[in-house]
Amino acid sequence: MSGTDSSETTVFLANEDATAALGVALAGQLRAGDCVLLEGPIGAGKSHLARALIRARLGRMEDVPSPTFTLVQTYQADDVEIWHADLYRLSHPDEVLELGLDDAFASAICLVEWPDRLGGHLPPDALRVRLMAQGDGRMVQLTGGRPDLRAALAKAIA
Ligand SMILES: Nc1ncnc2c1ncn2[C@@H]1O[C@H](COP(=O)(O)OP(=O)(O)O)[C@@H](O)[C@H]1O
Ligand SMILES: [Mg+2]
Repeated sequence: MSGTDSSETTVFLANEDATAALGVALAGQLRAGDCVLLEGPIGAGKSHLARALIRARLGRMEDVPSPTFTLVQTYQADDVEIWHADLYRLSHPDEVLELGLDDAFASAICLVEWPDRLGGHLPPDALRVRLMAQGDGRMVQLTGGRPDLRAALAKAIA
């Protein structure tokens, strides 16, 4: 089950492997300066998607811990750094600057869980990935991002 129009793509992810496959598809499309906002409640699958994406982009089974307490984990891929952030425990949006995330938005691939904590530091062209429980699986809604990125993604996961 999937749907695409110019502004939104929705896909049903029947199990965790389908979520991981979306991560792998994303890994193939992202480039330096791209930001992915991972939205949805605790347990939605945000970290699961990020882990699959990071491993696919690195090309190895890297240990990818949830950045719950460190707030940020960074990884060096061949051509680009990947920043994985979990901002649930961010105390103030300006802590984004202390973490160096604003610079990373320009130069790295950034995956951000709990992006509502970014306040005014939200990068304008970010791809929004919203995960919602549906039955035993998840519904995912993709909005924003580079138009060519979402089009390529829709094709990859069709
Ligand atoms: N499409 C899916 N269907 C069912 N379970 C899923 C799906 N995607 C991920 N999960 C499961 O959801 C659980 C929570 O995932 P996690 O990534 O830790 O959530 P979050 O980071 O959003 O809190 C994991 O056990 C994962 O396997
Ligand atoms: Mg998480």
